Amino acid sequence: MDLEEREISAETITPYFEEYFGHKPTVISASPGRVNLIGEHTDYNEGFVMPMALNNINVIAIAPSPTGKHRWIGGIGEEMIELDPAETDKPGEPFWTNYVRGVITMLGRRGISVPAVDMLIDSNVPRGGGLSSSAAFEVSACTAFAALCGADVTPTDRALIGQATEHEFVNVPCGIMDQFISANGRKDHALMLDCKDLSYKLVPMTDPTVSVLVIDSAVKHSLADGGYAARRKNCEDACTILGVSSLRGATLEMLEAKKAELGDLCYRRARHVIGENLRVAAFAEAVAAGDWNAAGVAMRGSHASLRDDFEVSCAEVDTLVSLADSIPSAASVYGARMTGGGFGGCIVALVKSDDVQQVAEEMIEAYRNALGIETAYLITRPGEGARVLYQA
Ligand code: GLA
Repeated sequence: MDLEEREISAETITPYFEEYFGHKPTVISASPGRVNLIGEHTDYNEGFVMPMALNNINVIAIAPSPTGKHRWIGGIGEEMIELDPAETDKPGEPFWTNYVRGVITMLGRRGISVPAVDMLIDSNVPRGGGLSSSAAFEVSACTAFAALCGADVTPTDRALIGQATEHEFVNVPCGIMDQFISANGRKDHALMLDCKDLSYKLVPMTDPTVSVLVIDSAVKHSLADGGYAARRKNCEDACTILGVSSLRGATLEMLEAKKAELGDLCYRRARHVIGENLRVAAFAEAVAAGDWNAAGVAMRGSHASLRDDFEVSCAEVDTLVSLADSIPSAASVYGARMTGGGFGGCIVALVKSDDVQQVAEEMIEAYRNALGIETAYLITRPGEGARVLYQA
């Protein structure tokens, strides 16, 4: 995975659009990928999450198609797909078109009819690395279509449209976190979301002494593989035994009282979720107070729980997280943890800004020495959520 931030913008996509379609785009949208700082596998349990938007974005340029057919190009240099507008109400080939088909269908259900469009997509969100390139794609498409149709679709609704697209067109039973932060992210802020009622608080992350370091394990993952759905099922089973409608309604005391009935697996799954909600609260408080050591403690606790109780980490990701404690500059790392759905993907660390470059290089070298895997990193700050970059 290439974690470099190749610059993309309205200016970079426009000449390609004109070259491919022979006319100008009328709308250009952008929507970011994300890194989750803490609160993992809590979103579909009506819990708390605290992600931030990246500066890596999905950019989409569109204009009404003069042919009456959709003409879509999935990336610069890729082939053009032609589709009849009547064909977008179901999944089909090539696979990537399902993200767009889904968004058009969900807008249609809201009474917003997207006309046949010429569309070019470009993205510098790394794919398959757990940084939500698909959420960025869905929310960017929704943002572009809503602008083209002059429709008022709130950021939260755009997130729900993206999530429904994943469920019905991509077969990924995801929660709301990734699409929500892509739609509602704010520069220089993390976002603490209550997934029960979708209320949220922006938490400033402007301290220049602390940087966010993302490192790829180079292990590709897919949430359609079954491990993710199996975790959701474990949580639902735990709810049935605990007599709650979601794990948000459960406490550690309730869990202990039903320990035998739950069995080891459901007990540990639920313990992760209940504990993770508490860690999100502790983390948010620590960030607000600028207490980065306390924030790091919550991150370490989150990783251990995801590894041991929820069992969604993997050997490579665990290696990266423990290397953050053993590299020569380990004292400059406040905390590190896996981020995203798991089974591969990236880790996120909070690191002293003065030393973050050094830490990143030591991590890459130590990972190579430990596992023989060559990988990449990203040093970043919270970016801006979905927006219209241009409208004619
Ligand atoms: C994926 C899903 C999210 C969330 C995370 C785990 O990123 O898309 O909804 O469940 O995994 O926290």
